[in-house]
Amino acid sequence: MASASSCIVISDEEQGYDLDLFCIPKHYASDLERVYIPHGLIMDRTERLARDILKDMGGHHIVALCVLKGGYKFFADLLDYIKALNRNSDRSIPMTVDFIRLKSYQNDQSTGDIKVIGGDDLSTLTGKNVLIVEDIIDTGKTMKTLLELLKQYNPKMVKVASLLVKRTPRSVGYRPDFVGFEVPDKFVVGYALDYNEYFRDLNHICVISDTGKEKYKA
Ligand code: HPA
Ligand code: MG
Repeated sequence: MASASSCIVISDEEQGYDLDLFCIPKHYASDLERVYIPHGLIMDRTERLARDILKDMGGHHIVALCVLKGGYKFFADLLDYIKALNRNSDRSIPMTVDFIRLKSYQNDQSTGDIKVIGGDDLSTLTGKNVLIVEDIIDTGKTMKTLLELLKQYNPKMVKVASLLVKRTPRSVGYRPDFVGFEVPDKFVVGYALDYNEYFRDLNHICVISDTGKEKYKA
């Protein structure tokens, strides 16, 4: 059986798909290289993650914590699948939601320091099963820091679901509990992942082109 954090691994050699095989917004036609993870595959994988998460956390009230902005699509679709399981099963658990944004700061020792913006007071997490929902784990620094911070509020359990994990030498070794896809060390956009706020309005996860990088650079 697949273990809790096993996932679909996209190899470094993966070429993805020609853009012309899918529907891409016209305004991004020259800004993308290839379709990397089609929307349908994201949805199918998310459906299974919902099942794995409920099996693992479903004994007790879940607080689902969405990390904005990049996590919003994955969060909405994941929760839809969890809700479908809850309404079609003999056993179900209540779920509440909250939304936060993270601002990271780098101090002199280059240990990550973060500020949590928005959301309810973190003390509402005490005694709860908390599910953090992220779009992508890159170095893992920010998530490690967030987990340290949340620990102070004594949640009953904290688990992390990330749609993507990047294979990068910059990783601090952090691995989320639930992972959709492991991707090569390339910049990906779409399905709410952005490049300077653009490409969130794209269904598929794609690799950005040099034209796109130039056009939307900060
Ligand atoms: N795409 C979008 N946002 C990101 C990425 C990425 O590849 N890595 C870290 N944040
Ligand atoms: Mg993110």
